[in-house]
Amino acid sequence: MKLFAGSSSIELAEEIANNLKIKISASEFERFSDRECIVRIKEEIKGETIYLLQSTCNPVNETLMELLIMADACLNNGAHKVHGILPYYGYSRQDRITVPGEPITTKLIAKLIEASGISSVTTMDIHSKATSESFNIPFNDLHFTDTLTKYLESKIKKDKKDYMIVGPDHGALERAERIAKSLGTDSAHIEKKRSKAEAISTMELQAKVKGKNVILVDDLIGTGGTIIRAAELLKKEGAEEVSVAATHGVFANDAVERLQNSIISEIIVSNTIPQRRRIDKLTVLSVAEEFSNFIKKI
Ligand code: R5P
Repeated sequence: MKLFAGSSSIELAEEIANNLKIKISASEFERFSDRECIVRIKEEIKGETIYLLQSTCNPVNETLMELLIMADACLNNGAHKVHGILPYYGYSRQDRITVPGEPITTKLIAKLIEASGISSVTTMDIHSKATSESFNIPFNDLHFTDTLTKYLESKIKKDKKDYMIVGPDHGALERAERIAKSLGTDSAHIEKKRSKAEAISTMELQAKVKGKNVILVDDLIGTGGTIIRAAELLKKEGAEEVSVAATHGVFANDAVERLQNSIISEIIVSNTIPQRRRIDKLTVLSVAEEFSNFIKKI
């Protein structure tokens, strides 16, 4: 078995390799001057089963192409199988047509991944089931829940009934319920409507939060618009303190500054996406164990 890392997942791959007591296999990346990507596999992999780790995060198009090209390079070099591990799976938000004329990128990306020869895909907290349903190869969705719950347990000082887990939209309801169940707290959600991709038109809270410490949970933070708006609504409704836990810290545009200046007290994310910019409020938890355990079990 060999573990390869794409450029977006080197740190996480190092942790996973350590847990598995192996070394990341050698590969080399180069770019033509127009940024076309060249990959070279630098060790013997004939007949080997490969785990290829690459989050398709910003720059999404480049990291995605790198994943596909690496898979092709492995298979061209005689690998038996290549399993794609995408801790963060980009393009999963476009999972249905919301406005006429739109594509369904989640299906397109599944076709591209399958065409590259990848035999299975493993990710974490995928945005919606539509992605797994787009694949004809095995698709595994791991969860941030255990690592997150352990951390939250260590932070919850008061009575659990003073806490509430809230999903900032209908899609986050199941996630909120799962985390609340493992923590032993109540859960609720907000009904969110969007007018276009990154603009929210309305938000309605579906529970009473007066006096509660609320932990908002979501799959990802993009511009930060959803959680900042949700946090403001919760405060207006009487919540004591609002913190946020999301699996993927995409943090687009000026999201980091907006979050630092918001009323949110703490932002907890996993390291599925490397976090280069750290702010006081940001806590990054490693999910290396989830991925190592998954690889060990196969
Ligand atoms: C939406 O359905 C997702 O689960 C996230 O709530 C959303 O993508 C977050 O995006 P933003 O931070 O840009 O509001």
